[in-house]
Amino acid sequence: MSIPVTGAVDRAAAGGPMPTQLQDLRNALGMFATGVTIVTAGNLTTNPIGMTANSFSSMSLDPPLVLWGISRSARSFERFQSAPYWTVHVLSVEQEALARRFATQGADKFAGLAITEGFGGVPLLDGCCARFECSAAATHDAGDHVILVGAVERFNRRNVAPLVFRGGKFAIALDSSNGSWQSSGAAERQEHL
Ligand SMILES: Cc1cc2nc3c(=O)[nH]c(=O)nc-3n(C[C@H](O)[C@H](O)[C@H](O)COP(=O)(O)O)c2cc1C
Repeated sequence: MSIPVTGAVDRAAAGGPMPTQLQDLRNALGMFATGVTIVTAGNLTTNPIGMTANSFSSMSLDPPLVLWGISRSARSFERFQSAPYWTVHVLSVEQEALARRFATQGADKFAGLAITEGFGGVPLLDGCCARFECSAAATHDAGDHVILVGAVERFNRRNVAPLVFRGGKFAIALDSSNGSWQSSGAAERQEHL
């Protein structure tokens, strides 16, 4: 049996929320399953940057805008915040190791990868489900993060199963098909046979 956890964030308390409140809040937020992306920026040859991000969201179709949030404590924070272009890679189930690598501070993130050059010279990774090449459109303060909004300049898509993140763990998605479940994208693949 699962035990329900409820909580209120005591914002009036001096010094901010207690660590247990933060952990409960983090656990509750973790119930929101997301995809997993790697965002890259900079230049292919001169010091490219990249990080794993699950705060990605589509925002507007007309004009086409997407957004994600970067922590002010990220090493690459200043460079992402001022980057004129950045690219969001939506990862496939095959790319969990890459997600872990790009979430590791100090890792040699691009070592050994087949990289090509995209819009604005931004490094592009292979093998993802979708890619959105963006020009920076706006930034918004958001507490310990900054929200980066991008205008989609180019995009592409491959019909492969996406990587999922939920409850602090990587996971897979299943599609519902008339009450039965099958691996994500399988129905669409059959329709195209
Ligand atoms: C699944 C997952 C999602 C993440 N999402 C974000 C995110 O949206 N924004 C963020 O700033 N950090 C996020 N992180 C943490 C960064 O990937 C990590 O801190 C990274 O090393 C930061 O890059 P840096 O080397 O520039 O510090 C996430 C980590 C994981 C494992």
